[in-house]
Amino acid sequence: MGTSGSGEVPTERPSGEQPSGGANYRLDRPRCDEDWQAYHGIRRKVFHLPRPVEEISPDCHPLLLFLEGRPIGAIQVDDLRNTAAALRLVAIDPAHQGGGHGRAMLERAEKFARELGCGKAVVYATPESAGFYQSIGYDEDDWDEICMGGIVQMLKILDR
Ligand SMILES: CC(C)(COP(=O)(O)OP(=O)(O)OC[C@H]1O[C@@H](n2cnc3c(N)ncnc32)[C@H](O)[C@@H]1OP(=O)(O)O)[C@@H](O)C(=O)NCCC(=O)NCCS
Repeated sequence: MGTSGSGEVPTERPSGEQPSGGANYRLDRPRCDEDWQAYHGIRRKVFHLPRPVEEISPDCHPLLLFLEGRPIGAIQVDDLRNTAAALRLVAIDPAHQGGGHGRAMLERAEKFARELGCGKAVVYATPESAGFYQSIGYDEDDWDEICMGGIVQMLKILDR
């Protein structure tokens, strides 16, 4: 499975689409080249990451947050196969940060993780972003034995 083109994330995977606070959000897998460009474009803008060339694992789920049909956020949900899902490279387009969209994306990513069968979500937070995760219910927890300098490991139990 490659990282570009449509139909590369299994279609039976869950997706969230529900309005929240009047805004019409949708968290969904990239389905076409335009979506993939948006997904990698947001990651490049926020993390200065080049588009990877390697194959993506079936347990890694790239997802785009759409607001009123326009992509504004990107996240990768990895099923760790130990009842936890790791939320990685959580990014809201800089032009849209600070508007509650990060919270909306996390709520939907957590729902996606629950639908994968995961009972908890874990993150490697930067010290600058730890407050964001804390405000949406994540607590510091050394869920990974690998120690990475400056990274705050955080965990949230997902409600059923
Ligand atoms: C971190 C990020 C995803 C947050 O998304 P956002 O849309 O800007 O955040 P929201 O507006 O949804 O904020 C939700 C809550 O978190 C708080 N918050 C947001 N960023 C915060 C920060 N850096 N530190 C402390 N609190 C923060 C907000 O004040 C808000 O609190 P409230 O609901 O009590 O008012 C986004 O700013 C981003 O992409 N940043 C750059 C990449 C990054 O740091 N990713 C995370 C590490 S992988």
